Amino acid sequence: MARRELAQNRRLLRALLVPTMEKRTSLHGHWSSRTTFILAVTGSAVGLGNIWKFPYVAGENGGGAFVLVYLICVVVIGLPIMMSEVLLGRRGRRNPITTMKVLGEEEAGKSWWQIVGWNGIIAGFLILSFYSVIGGWSLAYIERSIMGTFVKADGAVVTETLDSLFASWPRMLFWHSLFMVMTIVVVAKGVQRGLERAVEVLMPALVVLLIVLLFVSARLDTFQAGLTFMFEPDFSKLDGDTILVAMGQAFFSLSIGMGAVMAYGAYLPEGTSIGSTSLIVVFADTMIAMLAGVVIFPIVFNFGLDPAEGPGLVFHSLPLALGQLPWSVVLSTAFFVLLTFGAWTSSIGLIEPTVAWLVERHQLSRPTAAWLVGGAIWFLGLGTVLSFNVLSDFQFFKGTIFDNLDYLASNILLPAGGLLIAIFAGWVMCRNSSAEELDLGTGLRYKVWRFLTRFIAPVGVALVLLNASGLLAAMRG
Ligand code: TRP
Repeated sequence: MARRELAQNRRLLRALLVPTMEKRTSLHGHWSSRTTFILAVTGSAVGLGNIWKFPYVAGENGGGAFVLVYLICVVVIGLPIMMSEVLLGRRGRRNPITTMKVLGEEEAGKSWWQIVGWNGIIAGFLILSFYSVIGGWSLAYIERSIMGTFVKADGAVVTETLDSLFASWPRMLFWHSLFMVMTIVVVAKGVQRGLERAVEVLMPALVVLLIVLLFVSARLDTFQAGLTFMFEPDFSKLDGDTILVAMGQAFFSLSIGMGAVMAYGAYLPEGTSIGSTSLIVVFADTMIAMLAGVVIFPIVFNFGLDPAEGPGLVFHSLPLALGQLPWSVVLSTAFFVLLTFGAWTSSIGLIEPTVAWLVERHQLSRPTAAWLVGGAIWFLGLGTVLSFNVLSDFQFFKGTIFDNLDYLASNILLPAGGLLIAIFAGWVMCRNSSAEELDLGTGLRYKVWRFLTRFIAPVGVALVLLNASGLLAAMRG
């Protein structure tokens, strides 16, 4: 029989078998409702990525054009991949490694698809190792706020506060350790309840505070300049690497490409719409990043800060605005408490897939797994702690150890994971399986998802990844 015919028969057979297959259920139970799922995924998505990372990478990469590429990536790559992750997770109902292994065997007879899960575990490790250090800065700034350091603070005070934190590795190590312990304690207890409550109340509070700060920014003479910087694209600022960083930021901010959303999807009840839930999360995450940018850049220009200064940008600029407000001690403390919570809910999402895998696959107890994984990540975090002081001159490839960890995880591993996820959901999985799971009907909405997932997302990610390695530059030259 010709190969084509064989393949066709196999596809037919699968189409017949798969939908009648018995539904799996998750070991860890289900989310109590669609809202809880949305809250959990939003909790993982909204964090330091929106408020700390987005403004500083946008600033480093020249503003407008970068922001535009980021937004395009969110819509045409981020959204379809997020939907794919949820659908794979719900169909597999396990941790990402087992889910991809089982689905790979089911849909293609191949177990090597589990590398998607492995890739995600490595990415989560690397990301959390620096994420926890930045979460530590946020903790340190709670303390500074309570002490009243920022009340009516001028540029010199704020600069000195940040520089002295960066300069002291023992202080950074202390706050990093505290943040890591906070993460481990929650994960050891088995996430849920408290977390849901926290997201439900604290996330809106964070948005309210950002809106208060927006009023401060809007009254500055530099408000217009800030908006121009963020929204007026100057395409001469774009090259292969900026585009890659913008795409990496979309993956990072949406928490996709590493199986975290897949792990959450595993607990999603049948019959919940994957399309509209994903849309809500993507929209909320992106709006919060935009809001942070619109608040921060006018402040940056007003106080003569450098938008391209790097990872310290937010900790430099926001205290200046917070210090001008009435009740500034209360408001700046509240702000950094809420930022810490945002970071905390994300860090839990970063560590959970690995812990879930150790518990399910190797029968470790939750606390053992949490302390083991957390301890290893804490140790790796020393690399980032030292990147800002003792080892700040130790630079290679993209810069310090921190710069390289971030670049490798956000701009290489997450997009690579996303690429494989899109290929799996769009090409390997049979049409019936994805149509059944997404339940968008057979109309336009399903077709749009399928088109984006089969063509736009994988081709886009592949081109950007290749271009960054200088391939296009070489072809042009
Ligand atoms: N999205 C998070 C943030 O914006 C960071 C993050 C990336 C993340 N990948 C994740 C969080 C996976 C949880 C799970 O801060």
